[in-house]
Amino acid sequence: MPGRDGVIASPNIWNWPDVYEAENRAQDVTGEIEAVLRDLTPWAGRDVVDVGCGTGFHLPLFAREARSVVGVEPHPPLIERARIRVTGSAVRVVRGTADRLPLEDCSVDVVHARTAYFFGPGCGPGITEAMRVLRPGGVLVVVDLDATVDPYGAWMRRDLPHYDPLTVERFFAAQGFDLRRVLTRWSFADREEAAAVLGIEFSPRVAARALRQLTGTSVEVGYRVHTRRRPHGLETA
Ligand SMILES: C[S@@+](CC[C@H](N)C(=O)[O-])C[C@H]1O[C@@H](n2cnc3c(N)ncnc32)[C@H](O)[C@@H]1O
Repeated sequence: MPGRDGVIASPNIWNWPDVYEAENRAQDVTGEIEAVLRDLTPWAGRDVVDVGCGTGFHLPLFAREARSVVGVEPHPPLIERARIRVTGSAVRVVRGTADRLPLEDCSVDVVHARTAYFFGPGCGPGITEAMRVLRPGGVLVVVDLDATVDPYGAWMRRDLPHYDPLTVERFFAAQGFDLRRVLTRWSFADREEAAAVLGIEFSPRVAARALRQLTGTSVEVGYRVHTRRRPHGLETA
């Protein structure tokens, strides 16, 4: 749930940014999400914003081909890290939240958010805001974990007994989003790294169980990719 300032606490990356960096490196080692993003919303020559960009891990991917890239992030220490990451490039990192983007109307083609803010019911203001900054035909693409896919989903559900993935899916469907499921593989450098990453994602009990269930150093993890296009035609308020 967002706080008064609209920010959703993100202890994993706020408290352990270096472990989260290892987590990002471990995620989707075969590039399934990237392939789906390219299919759904190609960004070559386009203007892209990454909402809740954290330390900016995904900014270089977009920057290689996009016309412009802006990272939006509310947490100042992460803004600093993201800026260091993109030093020497044209990428801008600015302070802001999903429900109040520091961007002009109709100024971007792709709004990307990965495991940030758009977690289901309650993120309506961010959807409205994304539609404001998108040009007609532009796309809001939300990448999030799919808690219906085990074993990772079972670990999530154990820690978040009130989280109902189907409610989340129904919410996005009712808001006019299309859904694409993506099966990925996370692969850690070693079991020590796996333990550190599981330790920032789950309670100690669930993290210990997850580590026991992890065979070797990799695990299948499901994602949902939700997309909503800003219509070309006339919109009524
Ligand atoms: C789990 S991290 C993901 C970071 C990044 N997208 C990545 O994949 O590496 C979630 C991020 O969302 C940010 N965040 C929290 N509340 C937000 C809001 N209201 N609008 C935009 N970002 C927000 C957090 O500060 C954090 O950086």
